[in-house]
Amino acid sequence: MSSEEIALQAEHTLDKYGHLALALADKGWSVTEDFLPATLIKQLADEAREAYGSNQFHRAGVGRGKSFSVKRGIRSDLIKWLNPAQCTTAQLQYLDALEGLRQIINRTLYLGLFEFEAHLAIYPPGTYYREHLDQIKNDGRRLVTCVLYLNTSWSSSDGGQLRLFTNPSDKQQYEEIMPIGGRMVCFLSSRMLHAVMPAHDERLSITGWFKSYTPIS
Ligand code: OGA
Ligand code: MN
Repeated sequence: MSSEEIALQAEHTLDKYGHLALALADKGWSVTEDFLPATLIKQLADEAREAYGSNQFHRAGVGRGKSFSVKRGIRSDLIKWLNPAQCTTAQLQYLDALEGLRQIINRTLYLGLFEFEAHLAIYPPGTYYREHLDQIKNDGRRLVTCVLYLNTSWSSSDGGQLRLFTNPSDKQQYEEIMPIGGRMVCFLSSRMLHAVMPAHDERLSITGWFKSYTPIS
């Protein structure tokens, strides 16, 4: 790539992150297509499948520390936390992009996003995640949720939509977002009630949270 092309691409990326941050400020959630290049999405998906095949995923739970438990009635997906010290090149590229996004959101929303944590998630056919908020009880550190979808082909008959409740006092008001590869959904973790509808095909994603500095209360 020429230096002009690199500069253009950087500008385009800034613009994309800027739009995302403005939508987040405006309504509490945002959807961005092609957040990362298709080749990188495919690489992340291939690696996720490989890690799943070698039993590196575990049943996701609810809560933290002593209150952690696996409750299949609430969620039945499997996850693998990303540890930056053991990440693949593709996963590091994802983390770099999210660091760029963190800085733009901080400049736009003054949220004081400080840390980031993320896990790969796999929803085998028949699995789901019931309605919930992402802030853990007695721990308000999670401020912004970012879900990046990795399935390059997904159709409405595959289910697995993210149901985002847009009005906390009316459960009939929601948006359903298909988990299409490259699509990134961000929302305010404390505010947006959401659920993952049952998936009928293997559904892959990376879910990450920007967190505040405030220690656990
Ligand atoms: C979560 C979650 C949504 C999705 O992992 O907490 O709600 O669409 N994920 O995968
Ligand atoms: Mn969630």
